Order: sequence, then structure tokens, then C-alpha cells
Amino acid sequence: MAGQGFRDELTQLLQARYPLLAVETHEEQRVLREIRAVAEDAHRLRTPRRVYVWSSTTGLAPAGGPPINETRSAAAALERVYGWGEPAVFVFADLHPSLVAEGGHRPDPDVVRRLRELAAAFKTRPVPLSLILVSPSLPVPTELEHDATVIDFPLPDQRQIGELLDSMVAAHRQNVRVTIDREDRDAIVAAARGLTLPEAENAFARALVEGGGLDPSDLELILAEKRQAVRRSGMLDIVPAETGFDAVGGLDRLKRWLTKRTGTWTPAAAAYNLAAPKGLLLTGVPGCGKSLSAVCVANMWRLPLLRLDLGRVFGGLVGSSEKNIRTVIRTAEGIAPCVLWVDEIEKGLAGAGGGGGDGGTARRVFGTFLSWMQEKSAPVFVMATANQVGSLPPEFLRKGRFDEIFFVDLPSAPERIAIWRIHLRKRVTDPFVGSELRLDDALFAELADVSAGYSGAEIEQAVLSGLVDAFAEKRPLRRDDLVRAVRSTVPLSVTQADEILAIRNWAETRAVAATDTSDDVAAPKPVVAPPPPAAPSGRTIDV
Ligand SMILES: Nc1ncnc2c1ncn2[C@@H]1O[C@H](COP(=O)(O)OP(=O)(O)O)[C@@H](O)[C@H]1O
Ligand SMILES: [Mg+2]
Repeated sequence: MAGQGFRDELTQLLQARYPLLAVETHEEQRVLREIRAVAEDAHRLRTPRRVYVWSSTTGLAPAGGPPINETRSAAAALERVYGWGEPAVFVFADLHPSLVAEGGHRPDPDVVRRLRELAAAFKTRPVPLSLILVSPSLPVPTELEHDATVIDFPLPDQRQIGELLDSMVAAHRQNVRVTIDREDRDAIVAAARGLTLPEAENAFARALVEGGGLDPSDLELILAEKRQAVRRSGMLDIVPAETGFDAVGGLDRLKRWLTKRTGTWTPAAAAYNLAAPKGLLLTGVPGCGKSLSAVCVANMWRLPLLRLDLGRVFGGLVGSSEKNIRTVIRTAEGIAPCVLWVDEIEKGLAGAGGGGGDGGTARRVFGTFLSWMQEKSAPVFVMATANQVGSLPPEFLRKGRFDEIFFVDLPSAPERIAIWRIHLRKRVTDPFVGSELRLDDALFAELADVSAGYSGAEIEQAVLSGLVDAFAEKRPLRRDDLVRAVRSTVPLSVTQADEILAIRNWAETRAVAATDTSDDVAAPKPVVAPPPPAAPSGRTIDV
């Protein structure tokens, strides 16, 4: 359980007498409750400790008690703390403006220096003393990097959010109508996961007052609040996963892999001692359904889909990308079970390495992400896609990170049939537009033949461009429109034959084919891209 994880980690660190800790969170009240629950508990610590809180408005005060005189300046408070003689935990809230230059503030060198001295001195004191920095933004200054240990503070879990909702409902039962049953209640609680406790409180308050009370329809309101809260981070987006795998032609082995693992994160799977799957890396030829499949997983598994914009992780101010990736991880774990979609991960990597950026930061950020992937126990399924496999660093491909690396190649003949079927059936629905076409296997097979070497995206484009031609002449769509549309475009497999060959060679030894070639009656996969379609001389290229 998330809350337990924090308590256990803090217990260990306090027991081991770590002098200086740092917690990054917006939830000051909740973290303070958690710290007190550990520090004051004689079952957890051999020597329980009193908790003192400092803030610039009140000065230093025992938790729940009156402030100590003349401790409002950070320097004065630290001075006091330095000479402390009894077991204690000091929580300093929002000290960060004194620690690092940010938003026009200048750091206070005395405060930084004092903290360093404290960190050294606390280790040798006869009584256990620790200082915890708590703030929403935690850039630890370089001087303190080696002294301060950052602990992650997870978002509230199901139980904590449930307790909040129950207490709010109990408090307002008299004046608002509450018409939810146990199941609705659980769904609302689940919908609020990913929010901080104050955010959840706001969302519940709105749900209680709007529409004359709390009813099942408030689920939507909570979900909308969460979408907004997640988007506010600027890096994550909750996207609808309305497309299912029936919109994907081929890729049978990938589909089977995913189908088999449906529900492996649920309590029902616990009896089998299965770990929740970590994630997949989909590599391959552009336009063949990688991004599409990422959306379909969430649809198939009925899980929320979180899209990560890696560019934004690195796009912020210098020094903040590490904080950004921690925020992403915390949010995803808060919403878990969920699918975390990282599209074109290699671009994020490239953006991180180049452009005058600090390569060390990029490596650390990806290191954080990768070790999280390796160790995570929360069911966050990472769906990463990559077109340019050559630029992926080897540590990405090491065992233990992704469960599997799939290679998505140009569609085989049977796959092209399926893709034509999907896109024609989807677009040609009007009786007049379809009146000159028989959408049957013979047509799909013929079109599949004509489009050898074309990607799914190119087939879809051909359908669209055929429709444009037919529309321009106000007549039904004809087979010839489609054939012409195919012939008048040069597929990527021709213009980028070398690149595709390189991806295939790379994948040969490192990835599993997403297409089940054993079902495919065709000869073994050609080593070079299929030949270009017969090119009529002087053809026009459609735009
Ligand atoms: N196997 C496929 N089946 C059906 N449509 C496909 C397939 N592959 C690609 N497409 C079409 O092409 C579009 C772009 O494909 P996409 O998944 O973005 O490719 P990429 O592999 O580059 O991520 C999809 O949205 C879909 O409409
Ligand atoms: Mg894509």
C-alpha cells in the first residue's frame, strides 16, 4: 500500500539516523500526519521522537503546540535546532527559497551552510535528531546533494481517498442527498485516484453540492477534475481509448500476447503469483500501427490511458527535469492500474541529449525512469513506441525493463487484406458512395496485391484520397479510384528502403515479430523491402 511504503521507508531512515531528508509534495498536512505517525510511534522506533515544525510565518513549534520565541527566521531556527538535546524530528516547510535561486529569490548562503553543518553534527549526537525538508519544489542545492536524502511521497491510495469521501459524506448527510451504493462509491474513489488529498476534497465537495447531491452521475465530474489535474502538470494527459483492437489489421502475435495478460494485475490473478506486466516496447516501420496499438491496449484492458509527453519533461527550466519525471511516476502510480503511453520515445531521448542540454541530466532522468520500470510494483503498464531504433541506448533494451520488444513490420498480404477491410468498411458506409463497390474478400485481396510494400497508414491514405476523387466528381467510389490512389504514391518502403532494412536487421536479433509469420503462407520475410509498385512513367504524385 502506498502510504505504508512511505512509512516504512521513513522508519528505516530515521532508525538509521539519516540527518537530512527531503520530501517533495504539495500535501504538507498529509505528509506531516505521516511523519508524526512514524516519529511518535514507539512500535516503529526504539526511541520515539517529538516532531517540530518550522514555517516562516510561525517559526519553530512543536506539532500542535505554541511556537518557540524568535525562531521565525530560518537561520535563527536552525541555530536553535543545532543545539537540541532531546530526540526530535524537525520538519522545515518551504525552505526552498532560501536554498536555491528561483523566481527572483536569492539563496541564503548561511542557511545552506547551517544545514550542512547540521547534517554532519546530527550524526554524532547521543540522541537521534533528523531534519526533514518539505516543499512542493525540491531542487536540493549542489552543496547539499550528498547530505540530503530525497524520499518519495506517493499520492493517496484507495483507502485514504475512500476515508476522505466517507467522512465528507457523513458530515453532509443532513443537508445533501446521497444516492450512491457501495459500487458507485468505489468507482468514485477509484476515479479520484491520481489526485492529491486536497484536490480530491475539492472534487468531492463540488460533486456534493452540484446537481442536488451525490449520485452515480458525479463519477463523470470526478473524472473530469482528474483529467484537468493531470493535464496541469503539462507532461501527462489522460486520453480517451475508444479504439479497440478490431481497428487494427494483423499484428496477431502482439494481440495474443496482450489478450493473454488481460487482468493479470487484478486480485483474481494473485493466486497465480503473477506480477503485473511492466510494459512493451513497440519498434518498427512508421505507419504500421504502433501508436494505434498503444491506444488499443487501454481499450482492451479497460484501463485509463495516460500519454506522456517526454519533450515536456525536458522542456522545462534547467534542473527541473528530474523533478518532472518523479512527478510523472508519482501520478501514474497514483492512477494505477493504468497504461502509460510514451510515444516515439527515441525523440525524447534525442531531445534530452542534444540541443545544448546537459547530457548528464538526461541520463539521470532516463536512469530514474528505467530503474522505476525495473522495480515498480504498481500496475503501470508502459507502452513505449520507437521508430528510430538505432538511437535507443542499450540500457533500454536490457532484460527486466520491458517484458518484450515487438517489431512491427510492413503488413503481410493477409494483413493488408485486413487493413483494407477495416478502412473501407469504416469509411464507405453511405449506400450511394458504396454503390459501385462490393466490399468483399475478392476486392480486398486485389487491393492487397496492388499495395504490396505499403504501410497501414498509406493504405488508409489511399482510401481517403480515392474518396476525395469520387467526391470531386459527385459519384460513387470506384475500385479504380483506390488502385490509382495506391499507384500514384510512392510508399515509404521505397523512399526509405535503406532505413527500413536497417530497422529490420536491428530487430532480427533484438525483437519479436508482432506478426505471426507461422500463420502466413507466404515465403519467409524478405530481407529487402518488397519491390515498388509498377511505376507508370510520367505519373503524377497525389497531394
Ligand atoms: N495494422 C493497421 N491496421 C489498421 N490501421 C492501421 C494499421 N497500421 C496503421 N494504420 C492506420 O495508420 C494510422 C497511423 O498508424 P500509427 O499507429 O500511428 O503508426 P506508427 O506505427 O507509426 O505509430 C493509424 O491510425 C491507422 O489509421
Ligand atoms: Mg506512431
